[in-house]
Amino acid sequence: MTASPSFKQKHLLGIQDLSVAEIEVVLATAASFKEISEREIKKVPTLRGKTIVNLFLEPSTRTRASFEIAAKRLSADIVSFSGTGTSLDKGESFKDMTLTLEAMRPDYIIIRHKCSGAPRLLTTWTKASVINAGDGAHEHPTQGLLDLFTIKETFGTLAGIKVAIIGDITHSRVARSDIWGLTKMGAKVTVAGPATMLPPEISEMGVKVTTDLTRALHGVDVVILLRIQRERQDSRRLPSLREYARFYGLDGERLKTLPDRAVIMHPGPINRGVEISPEVADSGRAIITHQVTNGIAVRMAVLYLLQGGRES
Ligand code: CP
Repeated sequence: MTASPSFKQKHLLGIQDLSVAEIEVVLATAASFKEISEREIKKVPTLRGKTIVNLFLEPSTRTRASFEIAAKRLSADIVSFSGTGTSLDKGESFKDMTLTLEAMRPDYIIIRHKCSGAPRLLTTWTKASVINAGDGAHEHPTQGLLDLFTIKETFGTLAGIKVAIIGDITHSRVARSDIWGLTKMGAKVTVAGPATMLPPEISEMGVKVTTDLTRALHGVDVVILLRIQRERQDSRRLPSLREYARFYGLDGERLKTLPDRAVIMHPGPINRGVEISPEVADSGRAIITHQVTNGIAVRMAVLYLLQGGRES
């Protein structure tokens, strides 16, 4: 099997690096892979003999499990490491640990790291394909791609779709990947949140910016709620979670103001009662679990298209 000639990347570091044609190839490939997960035997031999290192140096449930399942459905061999229990705990540097892993000749290294730019740095030490599974507040490209896939699956198109992204834009790598992808594909994006969570440079990414939630929600097709990252907050940005929930949380009353067609998305993990009320999270309008299901097909597509081609 050969990957699409339209997809020229060796690594997936960010949606910023992808062309419109490459995004379209990922979405089309994911659509064909989605059917495999509906089969009784959910496995194809596409990546048999390939070795994947899944290196998660920050916590994760969805992304880590999703990559593991995607790899196994493509018959690749995958080994996963988490933040604790690696030689980093014994004082080894990130570079030396990577060189050790490289010596085992992986075909792919999937990495989540707290520092923006860590996946790009890793490409200088390995011949494997590197996939960014979230780096600091920079990008989370497979989350962005699965969000694009889910919106396209819901509305049949991305062009002209009105999307509101609500929450802590400053700390959100998902927001940045979504913005790069959605604007490239012709969607109209508004970001909203408290002024302390809206970085000034975000308007340069081709989005509308507002602190007014009602304005952001007017006439939308898709609302993407972001997790309030408690671990990255201080009291100067956010006086209290209760105040955030009151002014920016999506509850049943605010849900009623949205057009009937509008859907609610969230990359997870969700904070019930903060950015999303339990009533909204459990409603038929929330398609959060569809995002998770689609994440496997999108990650299968990414693994397939990159081909894990080690440089000889
Ligand atoms: N969306 C996301 O990145 O979730 P995890 O942190 O659980 O991987």
